[in-house]
Amino acid sequence: MIGRAQELIPAPSPVTGRVRLISANWKMNHNHLEAIAAMEKLYHLLRPEQFRYAELSIHPPFVDLRSLQLLFESDRMPFVLGAQNCHQEVSGAYTGEVSAPMLSKLGVGYVIVGHSERRRLFGESAELVAQKAVAVLAAGMVPIVCVGETLEEREAGATAAVIEAQLECVVAAVPLEALPKLVVAYEPVWAIGSGQAASPADASEAAAIVRGVVAKRGGEEASSKVRVQYGGSVSAGNAGMFMAAGGVDGLLVGTASLEPEGYAQLVRDA
Ligand code: 13P
Repeated sequence: MIGRAQELIPAPSPVTGRVRLISANWKMNHNHLEAIAAMEKLYHLLRPEQFRYAELSIHPPFVDLRSLQLLFESDRMPFVLGAQNCHQEVSGAYTGEVSAPMLSKLGVGYVIVGHSERRRLFGESAELVAQKAVAVLAAGMVPIVCVGETLEEREAGATAAVIEAQLECVVAAVPLEALPKLVVAYEPVWAIGSGQAASPADASEAAAIVRGVVAKRGGEEASSKVRVQYGGSVSAGNAGMFMAAGGVDGLLVGTASLEPEGYAQLVRDA
């Protein structure tokens, strides 16, 4: 059990000056009761040093957010609440959608935008992803912008071009002063849920491409502040390797984040 939440502020990495960010993307898993049980378990398995090492954001389905907000507040759990998506408009006749201000009202800090599953299964374009990133920032939260190539694109040698095209749209759309706040998750599509992670060298290369795109609009100062995560078959076995990769500031974890014992192990090993 951890003591006082206010003592558990993550310190920036002494090497990069950036605060590490390890994020659990639950996708469409865990109802609100399962979410509460999972978080109670995870919290008891973690030690203060894990909360000082990195920000730990949890991205449950929308319907779990209120329950987890209350749990984190009442038990002073220093997790950061996250969402997996939002609509680009503030309000209106958009049946079934959830807006960024609604999420920020629930205490959400980070919103994933442009996950490859959203791009592929729900037809989200780079332009739409950019609008969502702008909406998230306007509501006072931080977007985690996902980028990454498919296997075909990789085999065609188009990895850099794909990352650049996906990110340039976002970088061009957000206010200049917001650029340093961006979090970009490099998630190669072929590595997601496949058990076949990219290499730490791939992740470092992608991080350099990401910072190159940011530098073109915002300069070196902004690009040195942007945080880059790696995602795609992250496990307790490889988390440390990715965290040690040059330019990588965090992880975006899917499957391995669902089960508290395994996820606590992953966070400890990161
Ligand atoms: P897996 O960790 O299951 O490969 O999923 C990665 C992911 O898509 C996180 O957003």
